[in-house]
Amino acid sequence: MSRESIISGGSESIDESTLTSLRPKNLDGYIGQEAVIKKLSIAIQAALGRGEPLDHILFHGPPGLGKTTLAHIVATEMNAGFVSASGPALERAADLVGILTNLQQGDIFFIDEMHRLPRIVEEYLYPAMEDFEIDIILDPGPHARTVKLDLAEFTIVGATTRAGLITGPMRDRFGLSLHMQFYTPRELTEIVRRSSTILKIDITDGGAETIALRSRGTPRISNRLLKRVRDFAQVEEKDSITEDVAVEAMDIHGIDEAGLDSLDRKYLQIIINQYTGGPVGVAALAATLNEEQDTLIDVVEPFLLSAGFLNRTSRGRMSTPKACRHLGLDHRGQEELPL
Ligand code: ADE
Repeated sequence: MSRESIISGGSESIDESTLTSLRPKNLDGYIGQEAVIKKLSIAIQAALGRGEPLDHILFHGPPGLGKTTLAHIVATEMNAGFVSASGPALERAADLVGILTNLQQGDIFFIDEMHRLPRIVEEYLYPAMEDFEIDIILDPGPHARTVKLDLAEFTIVGATTRAGLITGPMRDRFGLSLHMQFYTPRELTEIVRRSSTILKIDITDGGAETIALRSRGTPRISNRLLKRVRDFAQVEEKDSITEDVAVEAMDIHGIDEAGLDSLDRKYLQIIINQYTGGPVGVAALAATLNEEQDTLIDVVEPFLLSAGFLNRTSRGRMSTPKACRHLGLDHRGQEELPL
């Protein structure tokens, strides 16, 4: 993902160390995602009660909603070790074998970007997930022999932004498949308050709500915006982050009242102006914007869809009347002048 902005910051880049410290460490400290937390907490309690490792879990949903955080929390709650890898980094079956054979009983093996696991590695994972065994090939060549190797009983926690790209056989091997939703403004306000307390930032209710409302339903964005607003308040010598301070700081970064940044607005403007509201395919949009198609699909579109700025049809993407109103354009892309 190449989008470098205050919204995404690149997938895991600037500020990531402080963001890590803002992450809740256990289920009790976790705000939001009630349905996911409930299912997770039952599975954890039951597994602990039986003294067994947890079933494999798949978290899916847009970036920044807490999939990695929850994977760490699962390990903490299970008193288990934590090993992590990402789909594209596991290039060869040998990379996977090295990790699997070193896992201890009950360990959590977190695989991020599960949908980018190479097919050959994915197929190697099936028997490991199902029966905790793998076949190792000895003496490759015409006399190749395989030996079965028993593994410790571990738990895979997979994360993906693209559940639709996970193959059927892989999906079937997860005992729990949990969808992460965008957070409500109320939940995000609570998260901003919690982060402000940890970072010792003085913030008013209005300040916290303003940041929450411009965070595109995403805690990672709330925490980034909070820090940019803190910078502004410090430089402008404001004692406290009020609504006015928050608005002024976010205006500087081009984050509007709906939380849209310049790429979001450009994306919508192109659909409205160049494609007369659509339908238009994502490949054409990516080419026009000079952006990766994956960035549009993973980062830009989910929030625009959920907030009602965009529709996805079988023939392509279409802007909505709400998008035109938000940008002050009529449906032909003409600027609407006040009467
Ligand atoms: N920080 C980031 N995400 C959070 C969440 N869901 N709950 C509490 N603090 C958070």
